[in-house]
This record gives sequence, structure tokens and C-alpha cells, in this order.
Amino acid sequence: MSAPAEAVVDLDAYRANLARLREAAPTAAQMAVVKADAYGHGAVEIGAAARQAGAEWLGVATLEEARLLRTAGDKGAVLAWLNPADADLAPAIDAGVDVAAGSVEQLDAVLGAGAATRPRVHLKVDTGMARGGVRGAELSALLAAAADAQRAGRIEVAGIFSHLACADEPASPVNDAQEHAFAAAVEELASFGVEPPLRHLANSAATLTRPSVHLDAVRVGIASYGISPGPALGTPAELGLTPVMTLRTALALVRRVPPGTGVSYGHTYVTKRETTLGLIPIGYGDGLLRAASNRASALVNGVLVPVAGRVCMDQVVLDLGDTPAKRGDEVVLFGPGSRGEPLAEDWAEAASTIGYEVVTRLGGRIVRRHAGTVATTSTGG
Ligand SMILES: Cc1ncc(COP(=O)(O)O)c(C=O)c1O
Repeated sequence: MSAPAEAVVDLDAYRANLARLREAAPTAAQMAVVKADAYGHGAVEIGAAARQAGAEWLGVATLEEARLLRTAGDKGAVLAWLNPADADLAPAIDAGVDVAAGSVEQLDAVLGAGAATRPRVHLKVDTGMARGGVRGAELSALLAAAADAQRAGRIEVAGIFSHLACADEPASPVNDAQEHAFAAAVEELASFGVEPPLRHLANSAATLTRPSVHLDAVRVGIASYGISPGPALGTPAELGLTPVMTLRTALALVRRVPPGTGVSYGHTYVTKRETTLGLIPIGYGDGLLRAASNRASALVNGVLVPVAGRVCMDQVVLDLGDTPAKRGDEVVLFGPGSRGEPLAEDWAEAASTIGYEVVTRLGGRIVRRHAGTVATTSTGG
């Protein structure tokens, strides 16, 4: 391995996860969420793999993310749902990207974008997340304005959608409340004479647990990457999912130290007995979580060994104990677990965060390598 570390992305596992999610929501179209560079997995390759697996839609946050998909050759349906009112929307609309409107101001921006093609708009409703979208009087105003614009032939209302705040807690009453609020918004839109073909509300967790919100499309992100949406839903294996990313590196230095050796900044780890320390060339500068200091583990020569002391910017020390090891031996920080290595969820738990953050923040000097059948061209559309 010439790079300090590599993230191997298994596209076969990704496609299998999409198939599993299709099984969970067989009547809905599938929107593969590939924002934030496909949660750190590489949006172009993942987008192409999603199309191969039959995903009808790709979902991204920003217009720039949509542009990158189009530049890579994707011709299928794409929704970009985070477009600020002052964004230059015309290039995306003319590239056939659907855009979201979560306020009257945003709808006005779409209408005034000067696109050559009729914009396809998804109306964003705030059903309880209190993040983006409209509720109350503003909702009524947006629905009425969108209906007017459609009647005048100025836009096509292609969808209406919302996002769940507590889907990873399936028993939360917030889910019921949001589901009902969404149904009411859809009904109100119908009262203005508009019934868009795509009503969508479910994320991964709701795709797996709440068939009543599958509607016309499900937006699947984290589960497609083989990571559980949350501990309450179970492990990836329990959910029938395979983790897609393996983060691996190699021992850069191995040495024996006596008992009482303080390790890394602050000496928060002190060896209790004679032991072997192994150094790996990856740190928080590459997106590894510093909060996992002294808490996470990695797999070295078939043995799970702990992170010793603080995660540094470029390096981490592992306490190998008496495990036989030498410079160059493989270290797996997380992966599918098939060899006994930790999962991304284990690093998340060690750092009191979520699996989403573990994979999405990786960057820096880590080289990404796609394995499995890699599509050379996108097949969407
Ligand atoms: C609007 C929207 N829909 C769907 C998703 C996908 O969610 P998940 O990764 O939990 O499947 C996200 C991601 O946060 C999102 O912001």
C-alpha cells in the first residue's frame, strides 16, 4: 500500500444492499442518496452502481453534487434538495435535475431562474424536523403558489417530500405525527388540483421499519452503505446489510516497550506490562475520530487490539500486546466484520457519534479504491 491508508469500497456489497432495501420497499421507487460524496464512498462510482442496481433516482443535497453526476455521464432522474434561493439554478434545471422548493422565496427563485426547460420541482414540507421546508400558513402559501405556477405551465410539480426526525427510533410518536402531517400536506396540495407523481418521506430507517411511509419513493442513504441507521434497529447483519467500506492501513513501526510507558499526547495511556506498540500512519487529519482515543480497536493479524492513547493528527498507536507483528502487516480499522474487524458502528460508539460520521468525514490522505464490478459508464436514463 503506497498511500498511508486506503478505503476499499465494495460495489458488489453496495448493490446487494440496494437489493435488500428494494425487498423492504418493493412498491416504491428507490432514490439512492449519494450526497456528501456518497457518504465518503465516492459519488460517481456509487451513483453508477446504484443505476446498475436499478435505482430510479439519485438524491443529492447540492446543485454541485448533481452537476458532478451529470458530468460523469449520469442521465437518469436526480433530485437536488438543498438549493439556496440565491443559487444559479438554470444550469441544473437545464441538465434535467429536479430541484426542491422549501419556501415561496425558493419557488420564486426557480421561476426566475431563466432556465430554457420547464423546471421540475419537489415541494419540501416541514412535518416536524424544523430544519428545511414549510409548515402552517407558509405551507399553504407555497402549495397555492406552486399550483398556480403549474397551471400557468411555468413548472412541473414533480414531487412533494419531507424528512423524518426520529425514524431511527421506530416507536417514537414523532413518526406518527410526521406521517399524518405529511398526508395532510399532500391532501391540501390535491385540494389545489395538484397530485404529483412522487410523494416521498422515508429515509433508510423508515424504509426498513415503516411500510406506511414508503409511498412513491424511498430515499435510502446510510443502509445502502451497509451501516445500521441506529442501534435500535439492529446490526447490519441483523438487517441483512453488508458494510461497503473497509478502512485499512499497515503497521509503520513496531517496537517492544517496558511496563509504565506513557503513550501519545498527555500520556492518557500507560502500559501495564511489557508489550508491543504498533504505529499506524493515519489520524484525525484523515478524518479518524479523535474522540475514539483509548476506546476504539483495530484488527492486526487476526487479533483485535486497542487504540493506545490519543489519536494524533497523522498517527495512532495500537497496543499489540504479544501479538506477533512486523512493519508492513495489515491493520483493518473497520470493515464488514467478516474477519473479526470492527464495524464503522464500533468506531461510532467509541467516539459517541453515529456511523454516518465515521465514513463521511474520511478524507485527507486516504486513497479510495473501488472493488467489485466497477461500472465504467453510468447507465441512468
Ligand atoms: C432529505 C434527506 N433524505 C434522505 C436522507 C437519507 O437518510 P439515511 O442516510 O438515514 O437513509 C437524508 C440524509 O440525511 C436526507 O437529508
